[in-house]
Amino acid sequence: MKLQDKVEIVTGVASGMGKAIAELYATEGAKVIVADLNIEGAEAVVEGIENNGGAAKAVQVNVASLTEIENMIDKAVKEYGTLDILVNNAGIMDGFEPVGEINDDRWDLICDVNTKGVMRAMRKAIPIF
Ligand SMILES: NC(=O)c1ccc[n+]([C@@H]2O[C@H](COP(=O)([O-])OP(=O)(O)OC[C@H]3O[C@@H](n4cnc5c(N)ncnc54)[C@H](O)[C@@H]3O)[C@@H](O)[C@H]2O)c1
Repeated sequence: MKLQDKVEIVTGVASGMGKAIAELYATEGAKVIVADLNIEGAEAVVEGIENNGGAAKAVQVNVASLTEIENMIDKAVKEYGTLDILVNNAGIMDGFEPVGEINDDRWDLICDVNTKGVMRAMRKAIPIF
């Protein structure tokens, strides 16, 4: 149990690598805040972790929103007392438009989710670490 009682947030957990990370860390003893835009998917991951004897809570988050990111981290601290690990896994790769075709709305969304959201979550987490 390498992560016994560590408190962890993983974003983008409803599928893919985020789901695998949350499940693996829970088996190592971490208490996991399972955060995703897709709350039904996050809740299904929590159910699987709990059925396996682990501890997890689902939180709905859009990592493009400052308020929602801060709420996610506040919930981890309120629920489990602190935060030790943050996995900024949520991300989007959709589109792949060539630069000659991409519009500003698509560009802004990709930057907000893949880069600005990561910075904002780290900025809020670092003082807790
Ligand atoms: N799969 C790959 O080959 C690959 C390659 C390079 C990078 N990545 C990156 O690694 C990460 C995981 O990849 P994956 O293939 O497991 O992804 P995935 O598409 O299976 O899962 C991404 C998850 O992020 C969630 N999400 C999307 N936008 C969100 C938002 N605004 N707020 C909160 N949650 C949001 C989705 O609901 C989904 O559950 C992603 O950031 C992806 O961009 C993946």
